[in-house]
Amino acid sequence: MSPWCGRQIFAGALFIVLALNADLLLLAGPQSDASTTSTNRQNYTGDKACRACHSEKAASYSTTAHRLTSQAPTKESILGSFAEGKNVLKTSNPNLYFRMDAKPDGFYQTSVSASSGVDSSRSERMDVVVGSGRRGQTYLYWKGDQLFQLPVSYWTDLAAWINSPGYRDGDANFEKRVIPDCLGCHLSYAAAVGSPISSNRYMPESLVLGISCERCHGPGRQHVGAMTDEKSAVNIINPAKLTRDRQIDVCAQCHGGLRTPRKDPFSYVPGELLDKSFRPDDSGPAPTTDVHGNQVALLQLSRCYQFSPNMSCSTCHDVHQTQRDPVAISGRCLTCHRAEACGEFPKRREKILGNCANCHMPVQASNVIISSLKGMQARELVRNHWIRVYPASRIDSLPPPN
Ligand code: HEC
Ligand code: HEC
Ligand code: HEC
Ligand code: HEC
Ligand code: HEC
Ligand code: HEC
Ligand code: HEC
Repeated sequence: MSPWCGRQIFAGALFIVLALNADLLLLAGPQSDASTTSTNRQNYTGDKACRACHSEKAASYSTTAHRLTSQAPTKESILGSFAEGKNVLKTSNPNLYFRMDAKPDGFYQTSVSASSGVDSSRSERMDVVVGSGRRGQTYLYWKGDQLFQLPVSYWTDLAAWINSPGYRDGDANFEKRVIPDCLGCHLSYAAAVGSPISSNRYMPESLVLGISCERCHGPGRQHVGAMTDEKSAVNIINPAKLTRDRQIDVCAQCHGGLRTPRKDPFSYVPGELLDKSFRPDDSGPAPTTDVHGNQVALLQLSRCYQFSPNMSCSTCHDVHQTQRDPVAISGRCLTCHRAEACGEFPKRREKILGNCANCHMPVQASNVIISSLKGMQARELVRNHWIRVYPASRIDSLPPPN
């Protein structure tokens, strides 16, 4: 949304819009241009404000993957080890290794290469941690107002430093630019300098880490004001009250595959048609499971979804809490199905209870290679959201028949 939309509102609001915009422009310095603040931020308050009244939700939310998906670097937030011996990533290139160091002024990645007898090294500081660590983490660094991805990531299953996903083993590549769509899925906000679609320049101070309440509920300032004054107007979006398609859009911002933004990815407000802000996922008609996959498209292929007009992600997930229990989630199947309707029931009886998801939404190896490490290739295991009957060979762990 352009700041000039404020014009339609009364003069006071216009003043705030302009004042805020001017502040941001000052912060940005001489390099900023008109497209810098394509997102109107004055209606956003941040999570702290919500905590005062929704303390229970805020407390359970604070440890979720959404909340922790981007963090400032600390000894706790960075999962890889800096201990002597564990802080080195050797590569397939005998002349190149990486070293990770905790120093008083921050945490560093250094590439050390010895080519033609001359040692050379390059060090950059880990400035932003991306990934809660459910699967892994990757790290970003600032060069002026430009954001780049670092060559070494951490992968949880291997409990080890690895080459960053998509990087070639044996190369020291510090040049991968981080463009807004990446931040749009892992942060609450970043003010772009230049193109909000393709530039890797941001105002460093503008970054809001973690996914905030307002990414799914929209700007909350009016609601906070109304509730504080004990007025009855609610003025905030409850996704449950949107049509199903718009509810799904809220999640599809980030779970609808890699969609190219048409404008600043942070300008989308829940309730809007997502296709106005992003091009549809064009990765093909048959979405596959993968870490940056498309849970929305897979769910939409399911007969459960097609024949249940009210089914949404919330049918199974409460995003205000950690969602790691397929047994508990299998209980959600029974809100629509009886266990007896399952063809396996006569054979396995009550052993199928709690295992519905294991057979009908199996965990499968992603086709995308996360990292190659000393000749080994790491693949990720992901949950297939296409609910259907799978051949036994595609199911990870079957409960034994009676
Ligand atoms: C001063 C207290 C207060 C603050 C601060 C507050 N809320 Fe609320 N909120 C309430 C109350 C009270 C209700 C229930 C209103 C009702 O049902 O009439 C509510 C309802 C809601 C609803 C449900 C709306 C609906 O239509 O069902 C959502 C979503 C919500 N709040 C989100 C937030 C978020 C996000 C924040 C932070 C940006 C926030 N609230 C800050 C008091 C507050
Ligand atoms: C369209 C939204 C989207 C974009 C764009 C995106 N991600 Fe992700 N990313 C996700 C989602 C959703 C997950 C979790 C998926 C899952 O667990 O299956 C994820 C997972 C991850 C993880 C693993 C986190 C963990 O511990 O589970 C890392 C690391 C990561 N992304 C980094 C990046 C980086 C770096 C970029 C940009 C270069 C990027 N992502 C771009 C949505 C996105
Ligand atoms: C990833 C998206 C997402 C995030 C982040 C999120 N919510 Fe929600 N919230 C939802 C959805 C979806 C619903 C509707 C759930 C349903 O269908 O019952 C909801 C419902 C609510 C409700 C009203 C229903 C109820 O159970 O009382 C409140 C209040 C609320 N959220 C507060 C918050 C607060 C506070 C935060 C931040 C600490 C937050 N939410 C973060 C998606 C989100
Ligand atoms: C702003 C982007 C964004 C939005 C909006 C979003 N998600 Fe996510 N979601 C992510 C990312 C990124 C991850 C992986 C975080 C990580 O592990 O680092 C994730 C993880 C998850 C997980 C795994 C949780 C866990 O405990 O491991 C579930 C389930 C999920 N999302 C469901 C939803 C649903 C349902 C909605 C809509 C109500 C939604 N998400 C909206 C970005 C988003
Ligand atoms: C909101 C209701 C609802 C929920 C929740 C639900 N389903 Fe369904 N499911 C349906 C409907 C409706 C159909 C279509 C019935 C038909 O094919 O006649 C269906 C069809 C199916 C089918 C047949 C699919 C096919 O392609 O033939 C399977 C298997 C299934 N569901 C399993 C599950 C499992 C397992 C869960 C939980 C992980 C689940 N369902 C959750 C409503 C639901
Ligand atoms: C019928 C139930 C059901 C529905 C509906 C559902 N999920 Fe899931 N989801 C699951 C189960 C089961 C898991 C596995 C939890 C675990 O093992 O950690 C899961 C896990 C996830 C994860 C973690 C990634 C992974 O590969 O394990 C993400 C992200 C996610 N769901 C997103 C979504 C989104 C977005 C929607 C809506 C488009 C959605 N889910 C709808 C059952 C469901
Ligand atoms: C051991 C794996 C397994 C488990 C666990 C399992 N199912 Fe099934 N389910 C199957 C298989 C295989 C079929 C197909 C049987 C056939 O066609 O004879 C099936 C069929 C179904 C169908 C009927 C699909 C149709 O239209 O023909 C439904 C509905 C269903 N299961 C739901 C469930 C629910 C709900 C649970 C959990 C209570 C569950 N299943 C647990 C393997 C499993």
